[in-house]
Amino acid sequence: MTSDVHDIRGADHPLDRLGRPLHDLRISVMDRCNFRCPYCMPKEAFHEHYRFLRSQERLSFEEIVRLARLFTSLGVRKFRLTGGEPLLRTNLADLVGDLSAIPTAEDIALTTNGVLLGQHAVDLFANGLKRVTVSLDTLDPQIFKRMSGGFAALDQVLEGIEAAIAAGLAPVKINAVIERGVNDGGVLELVERFRGRPVIVRFVEFMDVGNRNDWRPDLVVPSRELVERIHARWPISPVAENYRGEVAQRWRFDDGAGEVGFISSVTQPFCGSCSRARLSSEGRFYTCLFATEGLDLRTPLRSGADDAELLTLIRGAWSARRDRYSELRNELRGREAGERKIEMYYIGG
Ligand code: GTP
Ligand code: 5AD
Ligand code: SF4
Ligand code: SF4
Repeated sequence: MTSDVHDIRGADHPLDRLGRPLHDLRISVMDRCNFRCPYCMPKEAFHEHYRFLRSQERLSFEEIVRLARLFTSLGVRKFRLTGGEPLLRTNLADLVGDLSAIPTAEDIALTTNGVLLGQHAVDLFANGLKRVTVSLDTLDPQIFKRMSGGFAALDQVLEGIEAAIAAGLAPVKINAVIERGVNDGGVLELVERFRGRPVIVRFVEFMDVGNRNDWRPDLVVPSRELVERIHARWPISPVAENYRGEVAQRWRFDDGAGEVGFISSVTQPFCGSCSRARLSSEGRFYTCLFATEGLDLRTPLRSGADDAELLTLIRGAWSARRDRYSELRNELRGREAGERKIEMYYIGG
């Protein structure tokens, strides 16, 4: 059984099999990255001869914008550009401009590793980017180097964050993926550095995305543990979510120095309210971060499908959706070896 909801414009917005609407579209614009984070693109696997997509295999900006418009007619209001590293895509600010011209696009955000942000922050903001999230797991240069696969660009990332604030993209969010025994010792340092600044640090539980990151349950630091550690140093209290289905749980400093967030998809899954879909850079549509299969939209796009045909395909995929991987992690982890999950670099988190 599927059903639809009607918004004030009378458009049909599909619900999935678990009654969840489609509200956010995460668009991966680039499968390449200038980092090799071991938990995402380990450099042994993603070496110099790895075959990334050829540029003509990636959707063009025109194709992305056409799909984005169609998605808004199914209920999408929020776009997030991801990668790999989205700022490796030439003229990304032009795409932001085109997306922000869609009247129903309420929010356009970007998730980046920050290295190129200093160069692009002003243009991105001028073209309508509303928010930016920078991945930064540690402030320790040695650990940074290890966690980014040998890159020593910590200073550039910090400059990128400052450039984004200066350009008008405050508050900037930071995603810090915490792995036990790797960077969990630097949590308080990250909090201290950004407390009182227009920056919201969010601690992300290490997830078993993809097939190559050697995830083990004992490497996950439960958010509860981090809340207690931070609270013991700077008392914090929980805050209500900004919107239904927000990924991060918000906590504010009792002394008024801002807030921190926790993304706990391992210990406190949030599939029940998940309204996120993903579009890969080659135009496959995925209804879960842990999906094994996606719907090819590029072939119909390039062979002349009209809007109604594309909408039927997308609506059908969303209406059939039953995904709730994080809630079923223990059962699904033992799936058939042939059922490969999509990789993080390919779908952008
Ligand atoms: P806003 O709430 O809009 O600021 O962004 P966000 O938190 O949804 O986006 P961001 O790209 O910063 O993602 C934060 C972290 O949460 C990343 O590690 C993502 O991989 C993870 N994440 C985002 N959406 C989902 C999801 O639907 N399921 C799971 N399991 N993880 C997600
Ligand atoms: N677990 C949790 N978060 C991850 N990210 C990448 N790989 C993982 C993982 N295995 C984060 C990145 C980025 C976001 C899109 O996803 O650090 O901030
Ligand atoms: Fe690291 Fe993000 Fe690049 Fe993956 S896409 S290697 S998490 S910077
Ligand atoms: Fe949504 Fe899948 Fe993440 Fe659950 S695991 S919150 S269904 S993307």
